[in-house]
Amino acid sequence: MGIAPMAGMTDSAFRRMVKRLGSCGLVVSEMVSSEALVRGIGRSLEYLEFTEEERPVSIQIFGGDPSRMAAAAQVVESRGADVVDVNMGCPVPKIAKHHAGCSLMREPDHAASIVAAMVRAVRIPVTVKMRAGWNDQQVNAPELARMVEAAGASAVAVHGRTAAQAYHGLADWNLIARVAEAVQIPVYGCGDLVEPGEILDRLRSTPVAGVLVGRGILRNPWLFAQAADLMAGRRPREVSLEDRRRFLIDYIDLLVREAPWGEEDLRQRGDAIPRKRYDPAATHDRWVVNKLRALCGYYTKGVDGGAHLRVAVNQAPSVGALRTLIEEFFGELAPSA
Ligand SMILES: Cc1cc2nc3c(=O)[nH]c(=O)nc-3n(C[C@H](O)[C@H](O)[C@H](O)COP(=O)(O)O)c2cc1C
Repeated sequence: MGIAPMAGMTDSAFRRMVKRLGSCGLVVSEMVSSEALVRGIGRSLEYLEFTEEERPVSIQIFGGDPSRMAAAAQVVESRGADVVDVNMGCPVPKIAKHHAGCSLMREPDHAASIVAAMVRAVRIPVTVKMRAGWNDQQVNAPELARMVEAAGASAVAVHGRTAAQAYHGLADWNLIARVAEAVQIPVYGCGDLVEPGEILDRLRSTPVAGVLVGRGILRNPWLFAQAADLMAGRRPREVSLEDRRRFLIDYIDLLVREAPWGEEDLRQRGDAIPRKRYDPAATHDRWVVNKLRALCGYYTKGVDGGAHLRVAVNQAPSVGALRTLIEEFFGELAPSA
């Protein structure tokens, strides 16, 4: 069981928070541009940062040029990551039009040549995360998996939807099973796992080596620990309102400590300092607030009255206000002594 890559979400702090709750194996970073990595553009290098407690860590890169992807894989390896993963699932046109992300599924020979170039360039395992295919007429994950296996990929993860589906409909786990049967390398299934019992069912009924969970872990970071309880024949642990409050406050604390937006950080990275009066504290504050807004879009679905919390978080003007409203929300929900 591992955390699927999610842009804007699976930052180092979040990955650590989930790991600390137990039973989480692999974690995958947000996707990073191979081009930005090769050119050493400051912000992209931040995506490569991780702490020892997160291991094994996979860094996902995207791009369409084999030599640039190979060079980016070397940057990832030099930063000590355990795995480098290729994004072949992103349906966003901005990425797809550069022969990257899921559009690589429409050019399987080219996709395989990217993997081959990366495998030649690094010693760490190269893996691929793909979708079912580009659209209903082009569902080719089993064939592409065979091709990237032949090119040297060590594992593949499959999100069982097409790019055309984006996040609509349901992930096709029969297709994921077909991919697992088509190759010798480990296949990780991904899509729509929200309840601990669903993880167990998919692991038992599909010949996958494991699962990667995306939105389910944003909604319920205890999901892996609960699935492990079920596997051990125990009732899944209860998550209290206090647990949920603590998670958000601890996450904010980690982000506040580590947010990389100080003027000195920008200077060291060689990034331009905005010409208008730059207030690092305010920028930093906004960054943390935005991160919490993004998470709470999912996290509040697991809480009674979560819609109120979501609206409040979306309106919070500062980290201070955010802390106060989280404390108040959970304080009001808690049964009085
Ligand atoms: C907010 C968000 C960001 C995502 N970013 C990435 C990404 O950077 N790379 C990637 O391969 N998949 C990305 N995905 C797809 C997920 O990894 C996963 O395949 C998909 O959400 C289906 O799994 P789920 O139903 O468990 O969420 C993203 C999904 C979400 C919801």
